[in-house]
Amino acid sequence: MSAGFQENVIEEIKSRCSIVDVIGRHVVLKRAGSNYKGVCPFHNEKTPSFVVSDAKQIFTCFGCGASGDVIEFVKRYHNLDFQGAIEKLAAEYGIEIKKNEYDKESKKAIYYEINREAASFFYRRFTRSINPGIEYMKKRGLDPITLKKFGIGYADEKWDSLYRYFMEKGTDVKLLLELGLVSQSKGRYYDKFRNRIMFPIINTRGKVIGFGGRAIGNDVPKYLNSPESPIFYKKNNLYGLNLTRQDINKEDYAILVEGYMDVISLYKNGVKNVSASLGTALTENQASMLKRYTDHIVLSYDADEAGQAATLRGMDILHHIGCKVKVLHIPEGKDPDEFIKKNGKDAFLQLIKKSLPFASYKIQRLKQKYDLHSTEGSVMFLQETAKILRQLSPVEADVYIKKIANETRISEGAIRLEVYGTNMENLNPKIRDNDSFERKEDDKKTEKKSDDSKLLLEKNLIKLMLLKSSYVPRIKPYETIFQNPFCLRIYELIQSLYADDEEIDRKKLADALEPDEYQMLISIWRDVHLADRDEAVFSDCISHIEDGIRHKREKEIIQILSLADEDMDSSVIEQLTRELMEIQKQKMQR
Ligand code: UTP
Ligand code: MN
Repeated sequence: MSAGFQENVIEEIKSRCSIVDVIGRHVVLKRAGSNYKGVCPFHNEKTPSFVVSDAKQIFTCFGCGASGDVIEFVKRYHNLDFQGAIEKLAAEYGIEIKKNEYDKESKKAIYYEINREAASFFYRRFTRSINPGIEYMKKRGLDPITLKKFGIGYADEKWDSLYRYFMEKGTDVKLLLELGLVSQSKGRYYDKFRNRIMFPIINTRGKVIGFGGRAIGNDVPKYLNSPESPIFYKKNNLYGLNLTRQDINKEDYAILVEGYMDVISLYKNGVKNVSASLGTALTENQASMLKRYTDHIVLSYDADEAGQAATLRGMDILHHIGCKVKVLHIPEGKDPDEFIKKNGKDAFLQLIKKSLPFASYKIQRLKQKYDLHSTEGSVMFLQETAKILRQLSPVEADVYIKKIANETRISEGAIRLEVYGTNMENLNPKIRDNDSFERKEDDKKTEKKSDDSKLLLEKNLIKLMLLKSSYVPRIKPYETIFQNPFCLRIYELIQSLYADDEEIDRKKLADALEPDEYQMLISIWRDVHLADRDEAVFSDCISHIEDGIRHKREKEIIQILSLADEDMDSSVIEQLTRELMEIQKQKMQR
């Protein structure tokens, strides 16, 4: 069998290219029973002994003995090898041929080889004689050993040095174009990289997959990078990882920087567990590549807008795949290269020590973003902070909650409620399921207890009104408290009796009641003892009611806020949060 073709391509050809159809184009075939007959194209004959079977999809010549399937026919008739026959049939019948992985790799090997040769071409230019490249890199503080380690090269200022070099070797210019080493304009070819420091980008298997070229002068762009090619996907590679992955593994953390020079400079200064995401924001592929060597990443991107945006995105991607991320802040807006060159390795290691964990970094940014002296600002801050804290384990989140409460005027309770909603059970559904049975029993008990105390409250209030009618108007604002049907009926009668003459005639009241309601009245009269403390009992009752109202309102607000989304009017959110904080403050004072 032919290496290089997928089995299913052959199957597809056999099933789609009817042998009668294919042979019929070259040989006149006549139906003979279930078969077709013709004059054999493979030997000289007058009477047809060449038989084609549609059912079996084979041909046989009873004169010369030739036989085979459709591919065999094309091979023999057109004098092709197996591969040629496949390609011919596939082309005629519009069947796509996918080369297998083995073929792809061997094609890739050609590209790798060209890039390798280009890299050593640039390297020779860089090392052999005095040139602007080596001058520039020396000025930037780099030594020959480091430069050699990274394979740094120089592309001279001529138009076609590299192009000519490859032409002399007989390289196909198409490949050079594909790799972005050469450009074509007005029928002429010229080198893509000119008068630039060349940084070969080498994958972890040691293959040169592309280049970054830094302008020595003020040419734009400052860095020119190889285009994506069959062997270069920016999103799948990290600069420097080929050299630094052992160090990353050993130190068990990686420092991720933005630029080529940052990698080389840190490496040169003894911080070797470093890599760069090639100017783009970190991708998921790059993140999981790093994760092969460590779970701990320190992001050290530039302090500018773009760098910070890349930090936030990179952080989320890394966090998502389970890495622990920290963010390193370099003072005075310097990049890692500038900082370490000026302050040395130890100062840089200090910065690493001081780098902020993922959540701290985000919360710190939010603090800067919002005015925490305004309620509006606090509300927004609280909401966004909660989103971050929800991603953490409860233990971690707790540390932050305490810290934020300390540093802002937002109470721990308010933060906690924003993070977890109405109940802590939201936190871990598994725990809730496990002991749901016991919980139900517990719930019943609490319900019963609270029912009892509610009834007692209603009874107390009625007793107060029966004793002193002056309580009737004072209790009216809280009348929704009467839920027990008997109490409610008694209360309503008291109200109407009071409305008549501001007195409660107990005889009239008793007469108006049904037996069950009357029983309730008796029990209130007999069992509820106020012992001359009526005013104290009254104020107890009222604050109890108010607590209940507050509690209900608190739950309600939390529910609303937890459902609030970006579309919700921020002034409403602000007002609700203010109310919530007020409620919680009052609760604390009691
Ligand atoms: P910077 O502009 O921060 O440059 O780009 P740098 O790394 O500090 O370089 P030096 O110190 O001036 O030499 C950071 C990275 O962004 C990508 C490169 O990967 C660069 O290292 N970049 C930048 C480009 O691809 N093209 C550009 O034009 C600029
Ligand atoms: Mn720099």
